[in-house]
Amino acid sequence: MKLNFLLQAALAGFAAAIDEPEGHEYHRHHGDSRSPCPGLNVMANHGFLPRSGLNIDLEAVRTGVVGAFNFEYTAFDMPFQQAVDFKLTTTGNSSTFHLADLAKHDTIEFDGSQSRNDFAFGNDNDFDPVIWHSVAKNLGLYHTGPAKEDQYVTIEVAARARAARVKEAMAANKHFNASEAQMMGSPGTTALYLATLWDDEAQAVPKKWIRAFFEEERIPYHEGYNPATRLQKTGADIADFFGKIVAVDTSTPKCKRGQL
Ligand code: HEM
Ligand SMILES: *[C@@H]1O[C@H](CO)[C@@H](O)[C@H](O)[C@H]1NC(C)=O
Ligand SMILES: *[C@@H]1O[C@H](CO)[C@@H](O)[C@H](O)[C@H]1NC(C)=O
Repeated sequence: MKLNFLLQAALAGFAAAIDEPEGHEYHRHHGDSRSPCPGLNVMANHGFLPRSGLNIDLEAVRTGVVGAFNFEYTAFDMPFQQAVDFKLTTTGNSSTFHLADLAKHDTIEFDGSQSRNDFAFGNDNDFDPVIWHSVAKNLGLYHTGPAKEDQYVTIEVAARARAARVKEAMAANKHFNASEAQMMGSPGTTALYLATLWDDEAQAVPKKWIRAFFEEERIPYHEGYNPATRLQKTGADIADFFGKIVAVDTSTPKCKRGQL
């Protein structure tokens, strides 16, 4: 059992750091167009989308999600189409958008995000450290140690942290107005980051990877994330995570840390 765990940790938790691929180094430049979506921002910060964040088309998203995360080529066709359908574009071309166009409230963007504040408080686009801090605390991100449960976030913990954030947002924002569909989009965004950062060996997500993704909008290559060797994730995988997240009964008290 103990040996088994160590072996697993060697394979998964302590995966070797890899270099950033050439041409896909992490850079951020003030003034580039960025969105309320950490996934797309991460891609732009590594040149898997135009670094400017401008004139994004379907082809760019398709090749980007493959190169950045080893998603199936068409896994994000649906959200791309949503951006088109909501007519968010300010590019002058209905087939493209700038990343910042996605911040338009009450379209794809909705209240109760885990890393952004609500529109009513003035900025629904940029990473918000205060909002994130409360989510990160519930994810146990700052509690680290040698034990497996100290290094990974499980589906259950992620589901509870999401539900808690929505409750906090509803309490804090008297203008909170996510529609029913948007309320279902919320576990969807948790499914997105789980699918993106899932460690197939550990069957959980390394805390370090979550921190890089949200806090720096960076691909955690240095922390051992290697898109080239990851099992490809599909739209069906995202749907599967979604089902598991909504199946967690978040109304009961939190169980003790460590129940993996
Ligand atoms: C064309 C493709 C995409 C579009 C149009 C899109 C759009 C958006 C938008 C508008 C939001 C804000 C929702 C909110 O208010 O909470 C969002 C959130 C999010 N997106 Fe994307 N997205 C796309 C692709 C991706 C990809 C590829 C990933 C993962 C790699 C991803 C991960 C996330 C996550 C985790 C959130 C939640 C952020 C939070 O709660 O603070 N998205 N996306
Ligand atoms: C609009 O963008 C699409 C996708 O990049 C491109 O194929 C098309 O030529 C563009 N249309 C115009 C008028 O520039
Ligand atoms: C949601 O709230 C924002 C401001 O807080 C407002 O601009 C928007 O119209 C509201 N949407 C709905 C559907 O009430």
